[in-house]
Amino acid sequence: MWVYEILSNDIYFQILDKKNRTIISSLEVKQYHGTSEHHEPGLNKSEFFTVSRPLSNKLNDFTIKIYTSKRLIEIFELTNIEPITKVVFLVILTTFIIISSIILITIKYTLIPLTEISKHSAQISPSNLEKRLPTSGLPNEIRPLVFTFNSILDRLEAGFKSQQELLSTTAHELKTPLSIIRGEVELAPSISNELKTILIQDIDLLARQIQQILHLAEAQETLNYKFKYEQVSELIAEVINFISRIAKKKNIKIIFIEKEPVQLLVDKGMFFTLMKNLLENAINHSPFNSEVTILLNKEYLTVEDSGTGIESCNLPYIFNKFWRAPNRQISGAGLGISICQKITSAHNWKLHAYNQLGACFHISFKI
Ligand SMILES: Nc1ncnc2c1ncn2[C@@H]1O[C@H](COP(=O)(O)OP(=O)(O)O)[C@@H](O)[C@H]1O
Ligand SMILES: [Mg+2]
Repeated sequence: MWVYEILSNDIYFQILDKKNRTIISSLEVKQYHGTSEHHEPGLNKSEFFTVSRPLSNKLNDFTIKIYTSKRLIEIFELTNIEPITKVVFLVILTTFIIISSIILITIKYTLIPLTEISKHSAQISPSNLEKRLPTSGLPNEIRPLVFTFNSILDRLEAGFKSQQELLSTTAHELKTPLSIIRGEVELAPSISNELKTILIQDIDLLARQIQQILHLAEAQETLNYKFKYEQVSELIAEVINFISRIAKKKNIKIIFIEKEPVQLLVDKGMFFTLMKNLLENAINHSPFNSEVTILLNKEYLTVEDSGTGIESCNLPYIFNKFWRAPNRQISGAGLGISICQKITSAHNWKLHAYNQLGACFHISFKI
């Protein structure tokens, strides 16, 4: 309505002939008879601007005059009206941006708990099955899913634990009858010495395998680890002392190079098993009168022997349980390196093997 009001009060037109006589005009102009560019029409006190344009055809010459009030011009300047398409485009664009931002923010906030949950579930492995997904601060829609997942973990943990227990109880139960059998074979008068040696070798191997199975069961249960800050060189010295009896048999020298004092969070017993397994392997695979070198610094620990090394095609398999090189001469259970890997990963270290002079086992303390 205001538009019509303004147009009728603020815009006037007048068409004049050659002799300046009004032919057609709006009402207010009819009452006005001035000729200057600035007028003050009788009905409206505000100032007007006049624009004159000649309008000619073949028969006559006319002049058209348009009077526009200053008020109207100011209104247009103030409101700064944009073309309709631009306005519509801007409205659509703004709406789109607002709706997209709302959607993005909603999705982000809904997904935050899911991201947290996936982070937690990525940390769950057979070695830490006691972990559970957090249930606080979850949206109601996700809560049942997390509860179900946690109850699956409960059952998995119980199953895994009973398997571990069965494994270690069986191993313990087998140890006693085996040592009785060994004693009986040694004392049996009816068995020849030659057969006795073979039988005792087999019994010892079986006992060792049972011992290794027991170690493996212990090493993969994180609850068995009691970490304490230890001076690593002292622990290594203990293992060297223990293993020197076997090393002496092959006249192998164990060299320990400690680049700097290293203190680490360690489970003493497990570390002993780790080093014993690596050193046993190194001694077993090294020739007589050779050397095994242990190098320790703050970053890593290496055990290097002077044997023929591990064939590069076999390197990916050595961490597999019960894997042993096809052309092996030394008897074993094929569990030693698996045990070492379990122990290193429980300490958050990384174990890998490569060939240098002989085989080299490398434990990185900082992953
Ligand atoms: N220092 C080494 N040099 C060469 N081969 C090795 C060495 N250590 C391990 N291996 C290879 O890896 C296999 C697996 O080792 P391990 O898990 O300790 O089992 P085991 O010693 O009972 O055979 C060994 O049978 C051997 O073939
Ligand atoms: Mg071994």
